[in-house]
Amino acid sequence: MNKPILVTYATRAGSTGEIAVAIGETLAARGFPVEVQPVKENPTVTNYQAVILGSAIRMGNWLPEMVKFIEANHHTLNQMPVALFTVHMLNATEDETSRAARQAYTAPIRTLLPDAPEVFFTGRMDFSRLSLLDRFISRMVKAVESDQRDWEKIHTWAATILA
Ligand SMILES: Cc1cc2nc3c(=O)[nH]c(=O)nc-3n(C[C@H](O)[C@H](O)[C@H](O)COP(=O)(O)O)c2cc1C
Repeated sequence: MNKPILVTYATRAGSTGEIAVAIGETLAARGFPVEVQPVKENPTVTNYQAVILGSAIRMGNWLPEMVKFIEANHHTLNQMPVALFTVHMLNATEDETSRAARQAYTAPIRTLLPDAPEVFFTGRMDFSRLSLLDRFISRMVKAVESDQRDWEKIHTWAATILA
């Protein structure tokens, strides 16, 4: 039986879900059966041949529902092909300081899934999609609205991952 690949994600304002859909489309174009699901639906990982997990960053961390999911499933996930994507806005340049800062975002995840390859994608700030609290924090830190998603980078990664 050809089990599907799971692309599961955690989001607050939608941009990570849209990236997950794009990854799913590229995998489907490669001929894989694919399911894209929010992690809040608590998918059963044994139903899949491989799993791609992605989260938005909030205050330096993956979202808690995705961390909990990995904590609950990492023994199974470590027995199968797994890859990670992180969606963020800060620390996006290629200098060493920036690289180290963004790698710190996923250090707790890499402890649980040490063999999983990972990628970082810049995301989107859209105040209209934020909760009042998140909008307030964003204004305090003088965040600006912009869509920094690099669809070519996203499709290129999805075209080669799990090869
Ligand atoms: C309240 C708040 C906190 C954030 N904290 C960080 C952060 O610590 N580091 C970072 O690189 N990006 C941070 N971001 C940017 C988000 O990760 C980025 O906008 C991402 O695309 C959001 O994904 P989502 O639309 O799926 O929720 C933050 C955004 C908000 C609104």
